[in-house]
Amino acid sequence: MVGIDKINFYTPNTYIDLEELAKHRGVDPAKFTIGIGQSKMSVPPISQDTVSMAANAAYPLLTENDLNNIDLIVVGTETGVDESKSVASFIHDLLDIHPFAKSVDLKQACFGATAGLMMAVDFVRLHPDKKALVIGSDISRYGLNSSGEVTQGAGSVAMIVSSNPKIIEIEETSVSMTKSIFDFWRPNYSKTAIVDGKFSNEAYISFFSELWVEYSKRTNLSLEDFSAFCFHLPYTKMGKKALLPILEKEAPKNKDLLLENYQYSTNYSRDIGNIYTGSLYLSFMSLIEHASSSLTATDRIGFFSYGSGAVAEIFTGKLVDGFKDSLLSAEHEKLLTNRIDLSIEDYTTMFTKELSIDSDGNHLFNQDKTDNSIFFFKGTENHQRLYGKN
Ligand code: CAA
Repeated sequence: MVGIDKINFYTPNTYIDLEELAKHRGVDPAKFTIGIGQSKMSVPPISQDTVSMAANAAYPLLTENDLNNIDLIVVGTETGVDESKSVASFIHDLLDIHPFAKSVDLKQACFGATAGLMMAVDFVRLHPDKKALVIGSDISRYGLNSSGEVTQGAGSVAMIVSSNPKIIEIEETSVSMTKSIFDFWRPNYSKTAIVDGKFSNEAYISFFSELWVEYSKRTNLSLEDFSAFCFHLPYTKMGKKALLPILEKEAPKNKDLLLENYQYSTNYSRDIGNIYTGSLYLSFMSLIEHASSSLTATDRIGFFSYGSGAVAEIFTGKLVDGFKDSLLSAEHEKLLTNRIDLSIEDYTTMFTKELSIDSDGNHLFNQDKTDNSIFFFKGTENHQRLYGKN
């Protein structure tokens, strides 16, 4: 049995309240909080990037045993910090993982971490005494005043994959699908994503419905075999738009259960925003940490991973006995309640702050005073990114 043994998330401790943002933009706040389904959005200071966030998510999980047995580090990201060097190689160094491990990034929009999880599960099936560290880490940016502004966010999810996992066993059958489309993308020359909003919603929904038909055909499983479905959540209404059509003919009892658990799975994303590759796993953590009294060992959870461009996958897992004892719910609550609510002015300043590297590749700065994270980005020296640890 192979699956997720430990799981944690990190998000920067600064956010913008979306009712305030709506008022400032002259939009009815209900559009953001009900129509889109988002309340708060994490905004990273310049001292938090894809690498430091990933290290902050993974660090609390690691014991001496993990550091000596993780032979594979995979980071799914679409907002890496270098065109060549992997985020995973920085992580290997920052976390002090033993030298004979393999470190690599995987890219396919928000699907990267799922590809990483599948690679890690296969790796551990082949090497049952070894472990893998899988991370999804991203800063989602569409730009100030853009149509996607309210669906931005920042954060990372880290997971340790092992034999005899303490949280969830990943089952063997999954179904993936690829279609080369332009619903959301970011050319190399652009710092913000380009999106065809309506088309991206339609693509997401049709990928889910086509995959569900194929998945149920291949496995003979029906919705009654599931206790919950977790979705990639660019915003919390998105997954529900995909889920509702397949629930139409479902018996009320099962429909109510799946909708109730869907709500639990959205709590964290509603207050953090879109974290791209980590989003599906943030939704899973939200579910198991908020619905834990109604979920029990052997319950089957469905996962829908969607990465624009586009690749998607439905896979499943079964919760294992004692999973509740391995959750970091109290730490997550503390992280979210101790955040700083930014004014519109501070949000704008933070959002637009950039490195100003001189001709020798230098720009070093102090950790932002709002940022109390363990790992932080210090700037560049001789074109090399440097990180600090508190
Ligand atoms: N009160 C309540 N609801 C309101 C309202 C009000 N006053 N005003 C509007 N609404 C509702 C609308 O009826 C609509 O609801 P439905 O979708 O259920 O019909 C909802 O609010 C959104 O309204 P609009 O469609 O008019 O919003 P918009 O034009 O501003 O665009 C968006 C919304 C397309 C999500 C846009 O924010 C966007 O492009 N976001 C980025 C792309 C994205 O997240 N796509 C998701 C799929 S792609 C993916 O998943 C990969 C990824 O991570 C990017």
